[in-house]
Amino acid sequence: MERPVKACVFDAYGTLFDVHAAVRAHAPRIGVAAEAVSALWRTKQLEYTWVRSLMGRHADFAQLTGEALDHVMARHGIADPDLRADLMAAYRRLAAYPEVAASLAALANGGRRLAILSNGTPAWLADAVAAAGLAGRFAAVWSVEAVGIYKPDVRVYRLATDGLGLDARDIGFVSSNPWDAAGAANFGFRAVWVNRSGLPGEYASVAAVPEVASLADLPMHFG
Ligand code: LAC
Repeated sequence: MERPVKACVFDAYGTLFDVHAAVRAHAPRIGVAAEAVSALWRTKQLEYTWVRSLMGRHADFAQLTGEALDHVMARHGIADPDLRADLMAAYRRLAAYPEVAASLAALANGGRRLAILSNGTPAWLADAVAAAGLAGRFAAVWSVEAVGIYKPDVRVYRLATDGLGLDARDIGFVSSNPWDAAGAANFGFRAVWVNRSGLPGEYASVAAVPEVASLADLPMHFG
């Protein structure tokens, strides 16, 4: 194993917080399309971040998440403003994956600093961290709003090296989003991909990124 990392930085949505928990909480109101709605919502949300970044027309993650939901509801013929409001409210308080609290506690052993670096807005991230009972666990929670562009732009990842005052190679970066893990490895972090569903690997031509099945396996990589 390489030497232990001095800090661990986590992606938020999909890595710590279950992005499908919002639709799941209201699934009976959506019916058989619930799973497809949730998947397309996530796909469109991310697509909008990349398109906005390439255009140089930043809008925050709350707005783009709402625009993505509007598109998905229109595609599925769902016209229900109350459902829209409830889904957006649920997205602010997504459940953390079951292994998160114990895994973070193990990684923080010995005083190692933990932080979040996310596309989310500061307000959304604060709500999600508090709702999951994780306030106090993180030395910092950085939002792309500080730089006005989305991952995987290197200006986003630089928030963590600047904020921690560490070289990228001393920072472990954890994401369930393969494009984010590849972006972080490209920047120079010790990136690990959390591949919960056993998906085939991607972006091998960018960087070789080791994978784990859950956050519980991170100490194998980070010491
Ligand atoms: C985030 C997105 C990528 O939290 O899930 O940054």
